[in-house]
Order: sequence, then C-alpha cells, then structure tokens
Amino acid sequence: LEGHFVAKRLAGCKVVLTAGPTFEAIDPVRGITNISSGKMGYALARACAQAGAEVVLVSGPVALPVPVGVRCVPVAGARDMRAAVLAALPGAQVFISVAAVADYRPLEVAPHKMKKKDDVLTLALTQNPDILAEVAALPDAPFCVGFAAESQDLDAYAENKRSKKRLPLLVGNLVQDGMGAEDNLIVLYDDAGRHPLPRASKSELARSVVEHLASMLATVVR
Ligand code: CTP
Ligand code: CA
Repeated sequence: LEGHFVAKRLAGCKVVLTAGPTFEAIDPVRGITNISSGKMGYALARACAQAGAEVVLVSGPVALPVPVGVRCVPVAGARDMRAAVLAALPGAQVFISVAAVADYRPLEVAPHKMKKKDDVLTLALTQNPDILAEVAALPDAPFCVGFAAESQDLDAYAENKRSKKRLPLLVGNLVQDGMGAEDNLIVLYDDAGRHPLPRASKSELARSVVEHLASMLATVVR
C-alpha cells in the first residue's frame, strides 16, 4: 500500500540525501556530535525510492536499516560527508539536506588517546564546510531542499535560512516537536509562502514532502 501512495512521481529522477548527525573526532576514541536519530532523512530516502527515484543516501552514524532500493554511503565527519555528496551529485536533479551537520570540528585530532590532566580542558574548534550552501551555489545546482530544526522563532529562522542559502524549498520544525520521536510537526517554506502540515508520522510526512517536491519539480524549467 505504501508503495502506491506516492505513485512514481520521481521516476527517472536521481536524488541525493544527507541524514543523521556527523561525528567529529577528538582522538581515536572520542568525538563531538549532534543529536539526530536519522529517522526523517531515512523516511525521506525511502519515500523517494518508492516514488521511483534513484536514491543515494549519505549518512552519518545512525542505528537504522537502509531502506530497500536505496544506496547508502556511510560517513563520519562533515568533510567526509561533503566529499561523498560531491561524488554522488553528478546526474542528480535533487539534493535533500536532512543531516544535522556539526557546525564545528576539533581543530586538531590527537593521534593517540588523550590522557586526563588538568581540571579544565579547552578544545579549539574550527568551522566545518556548509555542504548545502555549497551545493546550492554550484553553477549546475540541483533542486535543493534544506531543513531547519529550531528551538524558537521557527518562521523567522526558517525563512532566513531559505533566502540566505537560496533554496526553493525548506522544511522547518521545532526540535521539541519531533526530535527522536516517531512523529513530527513540520512547516514547508517556498516562494508561495508557508505550508504547515498536520502532525503525522515521519513516514507520512516524508510522503507529503515528496509530493510537494514533485509538484514543484514539475513546474521548474530544467
Ligand atoms: N547544513 C549543511 N552543512 C553544514 C550545516 C548545515 O549542509 N555545515 C544544512 C543542514 O543539513 C540543513 C541546513 O543546512 O539542511 C540548515 O542547517 P542548520 O544547522 O539549521 O543551519 P545553519 O546554516 O548551520 O545555521 P545555524 O546552525 O547557525 O542555525
Ligand atoms: Ca548548524
């Protein structure tokens, strides 16, 4: 039944997605990461495959099975994720950036396990590449979909991100509404305005996002 719902709206289309957190090493046994279950990104990858797309899912470390019909490229840090996305991009019409990419990584990775010493330890961090902003700015950019999980002022932050990264479509949610959960409350933002969706399971929401995306693609001159 699930397979019927999306009715091959993305047949012949190649979609690259990112999902999950990134993991930025501190030393061989430690790192910093973001909280992300990967559920929304994996649900979207599955919905795209069910809609007939060729799907490449570049995924940070999560505990989820790879959906049927999806090629998964596992990565750790944001720089690995960026390289895997750029490698997967040729021929793709759509890029969906669901990953919770760490904005910063340790400036240096210790080659050996760090030993406990002083009371206070200061780690120097350096900014990671912004994968979505970079892909959206490519001369031959695919149709880019961004995500924004905010803890407050969702509309303002979401609209701001959409215009700053020049995205045709952005999916916003408040972290308290969906993080780690099976369902979520999301709002779609595009040139036509804001479209709040009723609270639903992540797989139902993924199908709604794919429907919206497919309708937008149908009107985009390619
Ligand atoms: N993103 C990305 N690479 C990064 C940071 C973010 O590709 N280094 C993508 C995310 O996957 C998401 C979108 O950009 O689709 C917005 O991410 P978010 O963290 O909400 O926004 P930032 O631009 O990083 O701004 P801030 O964290 O300051 O709110
Ligand atoms: Ca960020």
